[in-house]
Amino acid sequence: MKQPRRPRRLRTDGIRPLVQETALSASDLITPVFVDATTEKRRPIGSMPGHERVPVDDAVARVEEVNETGVEAVMIFGVPGSKDERGTRAWAEDGVVQRAVNRISRRTDAYVITDVCLCEYTEHGHCGVLEPDAKTDPHLTIENDETRTLLERIAVSHAKAGADMVAPSGMIDGMVGAIRGALDDEGFEHVPIMSYAAKYESAFYGPFRDAADGAPAFGDRRHYQMDPANTREAGREVALDVAEGADVLMVKPALPYLDVVSRVRREFDHPVAAYNVSGEYAMVHAAADRGWLDLEAVAHESLLSIKRAGADLILTYFAEDIAERL
Ligand code: PBG
Repeated sequence: MKQPRRPRRLRTDGIRPLVQETALSASDLITPVFVDATTEKRRPIGSMPGHERVPVDDAVARVEEVNETGVEAVMIFGVPGSKDERGTRAWAEDGVVQRAVNRISRRTDAYVITDVCLCEYTEHGHCGVLEPDAKTDPHLTIENDETRTLLERIAVSHAKAGADMVAPSGMIDGMVGAIRGALDDEGFEHVPIMSYAAKYESAFYGPFRDAADGAPAFGDRRHYQMDPANTREAGREVALDVAEGADVLMVKPALPYLDVVSRVRREFDHPVAAYNVSGEYAMVHAAADRGWLDLEAVAHESLLSIKRAGADLILTYFAEDIAERL
């Protein structure tokens, strides 16, 4: 009988590393950091073990901790001291993100990215300005073009505070082009935009909404974030952001949307980022707590799979743990 083909020849210990196609490195990873203007001490986030909301005074120390693990990049989210109808604290010069970024950029070597959105800053928790009857009419939520002008202000205020890159996450039509124009007008041509280009209306964001206190008070985000059923639509969304000047294209969430990561990788030449979101993190921790999964092994395999699917950058709450292991 003819000999079988023997792919196992390439699985011996000596050669496995030589034929490995994908590798993770700390330089691929971005750690989300939560800065909270309502607290004077660090507060653990129950649904995201190992993560905390830190006061502005601890922002530099928190970023230094991240950098010590080998992760250079952070994504800053803010919990403001007060909220209002239009989210005005989101672009305040003395806002929580602006104050934190100012210190972090002066005192650390971290690469500082900011989330540009309104949901943590509005009383109603939506990512923009409400349409007139939104509270009573379930077909309505946020007004597009007015929200877009607020996003321009937020992005410029972050750049003024020292952000290295801005990441608009509101899924507002035209937001990338508008922010690019506003940054350029203010002399921030050098600040890149990482667009949350294909961001789905996902149930995996639950723990984050506790962490950043940004859950919608009524309704949901289905009128602006993408339908989880769609992948061709992701192609169209991403193409628009490319045309508007996005520098990095993000897909979010990551693991349940690896087909989308792979599609964006194949169809576009820009760097692709994937956001391994709070729910993906919480699930692994919950199972590991029960002894059902090996936390580190599953975390590592998850991030490796996201890379294998085509992501160049990964935003993940596992960043520090994995970087330390690498
Ligand atoms: C919006 C924003 C959200 C996340 C990142 N940016 C929440 C949302 O869209 O509801 C979710 C991140 C995560 O779940 O880890 N500012």
